[in-house]
Formats: sequence, structure tokens, C-alpha cells
Amino acid sequence: MRIAISTGGGDAPGLNAVIRAAVLSAIHRGWDVLGIKRGYAGLLGEDEVIPLTRESVRGIGHLGGTILRTTNRGSPFNYPILQPDGSYTYVDRSDELVENARKHGIDAIISIGGDGSLRIAQQLVAKGMKVVCVPKTIDNDVPGTVNTFGFDTAVSTAIEAIDKLHTTAESHDRVLVLEVMGRDAGFIALYSGVAGMASVILIPEIPFDIDKVCEKIRARDRRGRLFSIVVVAEGAAPVGGDESVIGESLPGQAKRVGGVSKWLASAIQQRTGKETRSLILGHLQRGGQPTGYDRLLSMRFGGAAIRAIEDEKWGHMLALQSPHIVTVPIEEVLGQTKRVDPEGDVVRTARELGVSFGD
Ligand code: F6P
Repeated sequence: MRIAISTGGGDAPGLNAVIRAAVLSAIHRGWDVLGIKRGYAGLLGEDEVIPLTRESVRGIGHLGGTILRTTNRGSPFNYPILQPDGSYTYVDRSDELVENARKHGIDAIISIGGDGSLRIAQQLVAKGMKVVCVPKTIDNDVPGTVNTFGFDTAVSTAIEAIDKLHTTAESHDRVLVLEVMGRDAGFIALYSGVAGMASVILIPEIPFDIDKVCEKIRARDRRGRLFSIVVVAEGAAPVGGDESVIGESLPGQAKRVGGVSKWLASAIQQRTGKETRSLILGHLQRGGQPTGYDRLLSMRFGGAAIRAIEDEKWGHMLALQSPHIVTVPIEEVLGQTKRVDPEGDVVRTARELGVSFGD
């Protein structure tokens, strides 16, 4: 048996722990393991396919990033090709990928990635390839699984930032607006905002009214709390408005959402007269060592991926349905969305603790 592992999409702390667990579990069965570098680029002649041995995965379980590298540009089914005039055309290179996988003697692939990678995996399975998926995103917005690895680490990083902002905000009587990741789902903002004891939490699932946000800040002032912390997900938007876009995307890349914190800070300062500053936590949330929780979840997913191959669960994704790791068909996952439930217990608890969602 020869299997190959690919990591695709934005990185998340825990990828290396998944790789380590999958490689060691495969070797335990006497299988061969290959690593496809940079998403599927290694199978398209744009990067390498490397052997993954016990030595390759030694001492990587606690490291952020991915030893296989990753990319969020270009599906093999819609691959951007640079033209001499600087423009791009998009071509389907999936036949080439399938052929190269055959040449490498690959029997099955473990694809570790988010929704983009799941979609590619489903298309590859439709072409007859044997693929099982491990869900990954710091945003925690993959349906069918309670958690994705990387989320807990991102939340911990955000909480650490909020804790630090508290002391400086309080010293200066300032409002500090912290923008965290979460393009479509506000889980990082919600969880870190509640645990970090922010006064205002703004998420894509609950459109906000800037006047309500300012009202909360004024109410705190009246009670002698002269500072406020606002945690905003990058994809949050005002009622009737659109999410902010921070810059241009490269060909084959998703829209680069972000920058709402800057707009918010200036709107809050103008309306309340309070000095307001903003910062974007950005890729700090994606880096660093995975927390113990993420590390264990990653290792469980890695081991379970090998068992899923043994059970021939092609086109399935591993999922945490606490306390068990199960497999669910990718098709089911792609047919759903996972977002913060505005009526769920975390939002309700936050409201009861006095947090404003700007609504
Ligand atoms: O999907 C995970 C995520 O961290 C989003 O929250 C964020 O919008 C995006 O990745 C950023 O990706 P990139 O690093 O490609 O800009």
C-alpha cells in the first residue's frame, strides 16, 4: 500500500501533528507514504513529491505550519496559467494529476484542508481517485465536525492579545478595536471575545448598528468604565452593508476580506469623542505551536485517516462528533454551512454577561 498526503488552503496549527500521526500509523502497518508538496503542485510538476519516513516526521508534532507547504491558489480543476501579457487563463489539469498519481504508484490520498480542498477531493473521487479528507481551518466553519484543529490555538492567541489590550486600553481610557480572522463565521471573535471579556463582539452572523456599538461604549463610560475592548471578525458588516475588502487577491485566490476595524475605530471616535485605536491580529492567529487540544485532535484525525483508508471510506471526511472521531461523506459536508448560531448558548451567555453584539 502506498499513500500520499497533501495539505491545501491556509495553514493551521496542527497540520504537522496530523502528518506525523498519519505517517507513523501508516508505517506501523508497513505502508509507504509520500508527501505531495504545496497542495497538489507536486503532482502537477510544479513542486516535488517526497518520501515521508519516520525521520521526516521526527520532532514536528508541536510545530506550526506544514512541512509539506501549502497553497490557496488554484484548484487543479481550474488552474491559473500566467500569459505573456500578464493576464491569466484557467485550465483543467486534473487528468495530468491523476496520471502523475498513477505513475507514483499512489493507491490513496489523504487531503488535509478546508472547504476548497474538500471540493477538490470530491471532484477527484468522481474521477476515480481514492481520497479521504481531514478538515482544517482556524475559522472552525467546516460543517459536520464539532471542531477543526487550529481553532483552539487561534482563539488562545486572540485571548492573549485581548488580555494585553485590556491593560493599555484601561491606562489610557481608550477604545481598542481588535480585528480577528473569520471571513464568513465569527467563531474566533465570539469565543475569544467572551473568554477575553470584551465589551462588544461583532460577527458576520449578526449585522451591527454603529450607533448601538457607541451606545454600549457610552454606557460603560457612565458607569466609570472609561475604556472598552471591541472584538470584530474580519467578515463582520453593518446592517445593510457589505464586508470590507482589504486588498487585491492573486489569481485563483478568494476575496481578501478585512479592514473593518479601521473603519469602526474612526466611526467610534467620531461619534463618541473617545480616542479609539484599531489593530488587525492577522496571521499571528495562524502561526505558532498548536495548543494541547489542537495537537491531540490533529493526532486523532491523522490516525483515523489511516483507519478510514483501511475501511475504504473514499470521499469521506474525518469529523469530531464528541467524544468520537467518525467519518462523514464530503458530499453531505459541502451541502451545508456552519456558522455561529445567534440563538446559541455562547451568544446568549455573552448577552447575559453584558456583551453588545451591536444589534
Ligand atoms: O480561512 C481561514 C482564514 O484564516 C480566514 O479567516 C482568512 O480570511 C483567510 O484564511 C486569510 O487567508 P490568506 O492568508 O490567504 O489571506
